[in-house]
Amino acid sequence: MTKNYLITGAAGFIGSHFAIKVCKLGHKAIVLDALTYASNLENLSEIKDSPLFKLVKGNICDAELVTKILDEEKIDFVVNFAAESHVDNSIKAPETFIQTNIVGTFNLLNCALKYWKNLDSEKKSQFRFLHVSTDEVYGSLEKDDPKFDEENPYRPNSPYSASKASSDHLVRAWFETYGLPAIITNCSNNFGPHQHQEKLIPTIVFSALAGKPIPIYGTGENIRDWIFVKDHADGLHSALHQGKAGQTYCFGGDAERTNLQIVYKICEILDGFKPRADGASYATQIKFVEDRLGHDKRYAVSNSKVERELGYKVSKNFEERLKETVIWFVSKI
Ligand SMILES: NC(=O)c1ccc[n+]([C@@H]2O[C@H](COP(=O)([O-])OP(=O)(O)OC[C@H]3O[C@@H](n4cnc5c(N)ncnc54)[C@H](O)[C@@H]3O)[C@@H](O)[C@H]2O)c1
Repeated sequence: MTKNYLITGAAGFIGSHFAIKVCKLGHKAIVLDALTYASNLENLSEIKDSPLFKLVKGNICDAELVTKILDEEKIDFVVNFAAESHVDNSIKAPETFIQTNIVGTFNLLNCALKYWKNLDSEKKSQFRFLHVSTDEVYGSLEKDDPKFDEENPYRPNSPYSASKASSDHLVRAWFETYGLPAIITNCSNNFGPHQHQEKLIPTIVFSALAGKPIPIYGTGENIRDWIFVKDHADGLHSALHQGKAGQTYCFGGDAERTNLQIVYKICEILDGFKPRADGASYATQIKFVEDRLGHDKRYAVSNSKVERELGYKVSKNFEERLKETVIWFVSKI
């Protein structure tokens, strides 16, 4: 039977992959997106003509609009991707992060709670609110620390991660206090097609090909754990349908790499695939720039719980996925 998903922020990177998956599975994706600078409707071109797809331009802070969509579309599942997501922007101008990430999540929870309370018992028991969050809420790891998992205390360091941590706490409270069947997921750095140009991997590809300096923060030794976006979308789908309300699920990519390893690997891919006219390596364009304020050293996420409980698996090795991703970005130039 066709189910109705309210997917917020799905004109952005990860949400668009999730919305496409939902439509391909024969369900209805109602996308609520404010269409900020981070959105791109091209991300949804694969489903734009599908009768299973509907776009509503609007803000998750708008209670009237959210309530109208829940009621009129008879929503079965809410999946919240809408957020301000770029750490650098949160350092320069935190206000919108507080508004969208905290107040927006609060508003969605409130509207969802009122809606959920009035559902018939069958629909009520099946309803889920899935909140997509980040491993950055756990702070930063030292080189030899064990990976983050679901039991990690919250120690956010940036305005972005603090706003996401706050939203996670609200979701938890709406489950514990009101019984709203909510699930939180915390994932590592995503990569893949459709990622906004401001993020590390597209920045490296576009700077390299434009013949510009390739900026790398500090010494490039910060470590991130890279998850392929479609693996993440699959994991979120499993968490929504096989996960338990009130639980948290962490998703990592099993691919810890320093930023330097990433930049050299991308330069190597481009050297082979689209060599520079002068025959020099793109790596000659790498330029170390002043480090980000409060730059977390290392993130790494354990997949133990999601492998055990949801059957989650990383689909291919990181280098293969990185190559596919770089080639996809090159095809867009
Ligand atoms: N990209 C990553 O590596 C990563 C890692 C961990 C967690 N996350 C989380 O996953 C979620 C999605 O991330 P992403 O990278 O796809 O983000 P993104 O920045 O690519 O997309 C965010 C989308 O949300 C929309 N949006 C912003 N404010 C809104 C508002 N007030 N109302 C409605 N829509 C609004 C934007 O228009 C955009 O389409 C976010 O919650 C983010 O915190 C992302």
